[in-house]
Amino acid sequence: MKTKIINYPDLIEARNRQKSDTIFLDASTAHLKEMEELGKGKKYYIHTYGCQANVRDEETMRGMLESVNFTKTEDPSEADVIIINTCAVRENAEDKVYGEIGNLKKYRRINKKLVLGICGCMVEQPEILQILQDKFPEVNLYFGTHEIDQLLDLIYETYNSDIRLISIKSKQGEVIENKLVKRNNEYKAFVNIIYGCNKFCTYCIVPYTRGKERSRKFNEIMDEVRELKKANYQEITFLGQNVNAYGKDLNEGYDFADILEEAAKMGIPRIRFTTSHPWDFSSKMIEIIAKYDNIMKCIHLPVQSGNDEVLKLMGRRYTREHYLNLVKEMREKIPGLSLSTDIIVGFPNETEEQFKDTLSLVDIVKYESAFTFIYSPRRGTPAAKIDDNVSYADKSRRFKELVKHLEVNIEKDAKSYVGGTYKVLVDGASKTDKDMLSGYTESNKLVHFKGDESLIGKIVNVKINESHTYSLLGELVNE
Ligand code: SAH
Ligand code: SF4
Ligand code: F3S
Repeated sequence: MKTKIINYPDLIEARNRQKSDTIFLDASTAHLKEMEELGKGKKYYIHTYGCQANVRDEETMRGMLESVNFTKTEDPSEADVIIINTCAVRENAEDKVYGEIGNLKKYRRINKKLVLGICGCMVEQPEILQILQDKFPEVNLYFGTHEIDQLLDLIYETYNSDIRLISIKSKQGEVIENKLVKRNNEYKAFVNIIYGCNKFCTYCIVPYTRGKERSRKFNEIMDEVRELKKANYQEITFLGQNVNAYGKDLNEGYDFADILEEAAKMGIPRIRFTTSHPWDFSSKMIEIIAKYDNIMKCIHLPVQSGNDEVLKLMGRRYTREHYLNLVKEMREKIPGLSLSTDIIVGFPNETEEQFKDTLSLVDIVKYESAFTFIYSPRRGTPAAKIDDNVSYADKSRRFKELVKHLEVNIEKDAKSYVGGTYKVLVDGASKTDKDMLSGYTESNKLVHFKGDESLIGKIVNVKINESHTYSLLGELVNE
């Protein structure tokens, strides 16, 4: 098999952004005619790892594939196109992908025409791309996060051919509108508002894999929200690596608070957003969140560490004091606020005292939920070059200690629901018990209760009878 390289990624190119304006494009529909024939009677399988940005990219790929008659399958053995949409944020995310490709590669021997494609953040790193090529000669398509809109052309060229195609350009990125989309859900939707990231936290690979910060135009976003409202969507989540930065790269005069307010006025029952960097969370945003009932009182505010020296080494651009003051303002102005966070333990050379500062911050803030990670060096990032004197055993111990601290408040918070009645957006049958439904409260607590599947996609009242650390048990209440 010959390898055809259209573009190859380069981390230095990915880091060096130009100040030039973002290019706005409309999604191309070229090749649709030939592809319509190709897709007939054929199936695709996509598995997505990583964050909501990747989930939303999957929805675009599904929209494109289904527009040319491919149908979805959950069974890779019957697929004509297999796509693994990868995440590079930590080593364990990458290990899962190596494992899955190992399982899927046999299908290329069984079906010689098959497209086995790898996309997403992992392949944006040249060294990882090389490892993948060496390890898995069966893979015949690699494309990057900036090439999603070319998916149909790439499949057209790869299917039933003897070439391996690599199309991954490390570019700052464009904003492509009117992309096709097949959403994973009929009542909850993700809406991109800003792509990429300019923060370059020293441990993080995302700014390299996703390009520079670039906002969608205000009207494009609002058109999408209007369509979702018309289609009776119950919940939308605005997406960005840092939604607070919305609009700073445009000269339209709108900021993220304007997005929230305009969407709230359209009357979508639940509006959420993720993620917010603590550095540029404005008082105006806090006021708008407090003002509208349909903006959920949930803020995901990653802190990463409670120690100023570590925060500085991480390049986070805020201090512990700034963070705590922000939390104070939020708690004062937004009654019923539910705060969640991301925390990294074991950043290179983190001392026991510095770690204790994270514990004390957790005790002060009293998060309602949290994602915790052990630091994972990412090749090409500044932090990966620091010699680290902390053993993995110490990091694991700290990790467990941190989770214990967090769970004190998470459990207490869960208990406070017992006896109360809450609005729950019903998601589906519970994963553990088919007779039970599950859904989320406005504050994002997972609730299980008995009910009929006809309630899926609706907002119902549930009285909470029992609490566990990470879920609640309740019963349906008639209004
Ligand atoms: N844009 C978001 C986060 C995206 S990555 C934000 O800044 O809030 C999600 C989380 O993964 C981060 O908040 C961080 O806690 C974690 N993370 C990122 N890089 C990591 C690394 N190298 N090792 C461990 N955790 C990491
Ligand atoms: Fe990564 Fe920092 Fe950007 Fe979040 S803000 S994606 S942690 S660089
Ligand atoms: Fe992972 Fe890329 Fe998202 S690295 S967390 S899928 S932006």
